Amino acid sequence: MKFIVLSGSPKGVKSVTLQYIRYIENAFPQHELKVIHVTQRIRRLETDRSAFDAVMHEIGQADGIFWATPVYYLLVPAGYKRFIELIAENGAQAVFVGKPAAILTTSVHFYDHTAHNYLHAICDDLEMRCLGHFSADMYDLLKAAERKRLEAFATLFFSEATGDVPLPKRFVLLNRPEFRYRPGRRVKSVDSGRHKVLMVTDAINPDSNLDRMYQHLRRCFNGCLGVIDLGALDIKGGCLGCLQCAYDNTCIYAGKDAFNAAYRDRIMRADILIWAGEMTDRYLSSRWKQFFDRSFFMGHTPSLSGKQVGMIISGPLGQNANLRQIIEAYMEMQRASLVGIVTDETGDSAVIDAQLIALARRLIRHADQQFVAPATFLGRAGTILFRDEIWGRLRFPFRADYGHYRRLGLFDFPQHHWPSRLRNALLLFLFRFPGLRRKINQRMKDEMIKPLQKYLRTH
Ligand SMILES: Cc1cc2nc3c(=O)[nH]c(=O)nc-3n(C[C@H](O)[C@H](O)[C@H](O)COP(=O)(O)O)c2cc1C
Repeated sequence: MKFIVLSGSPKGVKSVTLQYIRYIENAFPQHELKVIHVTQRIRRLETDRSAFDAVMHEIGQADGIFWATPVYYLLVPAGYKRFIELIAENGAQAVFVGKPAAILTTSVHFYDHTAHNYLHAICDDLEMRCLGHFSADMYDLLKAAERKRLEAFATLFFSEATGDVPLPKRFVLLNRPEFRYRPGRRVKSVDSGRHKVLMVTDAINPDSNLDRMYQHLRRCFNGCLGVIDLGALDIKGGCLGCLQCAYDNTCIYAGKDAFNAAYRDRIMRADILIWAGEMTDRYLSSRWKQFFDRSFFMGHTPSLSGKQVGMIISGPLGQNANLRQIIEAYMEMQRASLVGIVTDETGDSAVIDAQLIALARRLIRHADQQFVAPATFLGRAGTILFRDEIWGRLRFPFRADYGHYRRLGLFDFPQHHWPSRLRNALLLFLFRFPGLRRKINQRMKDEMIKPLQKYLRTH
């Protein structure tokens, strides 16, 4: 059988992910796996319709598809996202209907599940038969057990691709009712005071709901307000995955386009950020994705720490829990404060007006208080994962991150916490004796709140 591999790495043949495909190819010589480097070729596919059509023709002839991509910023690389957008823009969805699909990613398992959810939802939208997911760590191929697992995955995929296993959809179609937002004329604006407010938008369609929401929110602030239009900003291309930035945060594009300077000098210096974007398929636009990917030059450090962030999204975010989780996780990892997200999904202009002005007020109030909510599992688990990686196997090449993590005290390993280690040793020893265990258990609740009560008395 013949399968098409839609390869997502900007590194082309030097992709880590591609080595997993090569492994499958070697293990199953009876099948043909044709690789198309869609991210690497995205410029061409975007501008040359015959090149895009040739890819669609190949897919049409194939018995199944591998979506094979690295995870980039909790999703797929911007170029891959753009390719998915082109399928809809060029009306090529029919080519995919009924085709068996497998999703294969490599990553360090940081929000690989949100990338998989995204690709699975795309398969469901395209009415493909998504038969399986495989999320490999970058270096799993070095382990015999993982190679065996990969072979089992491919065996199952190849055998089920021929059959007609009935598969339930995981993601229902998004419902986007027609609605034109008409902002009210009167705006009671708020004073941004000493806070630097910066809006970042990709309001690509000038007369869209997003554009009108963003213009209305702009009017809600009096005082100096900066704007970055991602559509107009000189961004030469997506992240190349070259890791040149890992040494000292200097991107390979530095001095060649305007992105790095805009990020460092404007975004990182703002107090309040307002990000505006339109839902394009199951995420924001690929332009926004490029923004996130390119910010990788700042490494794994929380470069937006302490900022207050409001978002305006045009689209049914309430039906897209995966996107909301991506946004929340991103903000928590950044140690930024996600104050609120206003969408147009209520379908009521007056409600949206009220929510926009409320968002403006809340942003100022949060900035006054310098409030950043404590991280939930999303931020906490991600931070621990990065802590271990940057201290361990990723210390090289991420030299700059290692320095930042040390300075910021992010290497907070539990084995360095001597008071709890000593307490554990003592109490675990005493726990062995039934009489003492009974006594300790009797005091457990009191002892748990005792250290906290010390602070209650002082207020
Ligand atoms: C810009 C960028 C963003 C990344 N984002 C993530 C991520 O969100 N989660 C993760 O686990 N790994 C992330 N990674 C690591 C890659 O997924 C990983 O190195 C992958 O194996 C690279 O595959 P490739 O060589 O096929 O491109 C990121 C790497 C880059 C360069």
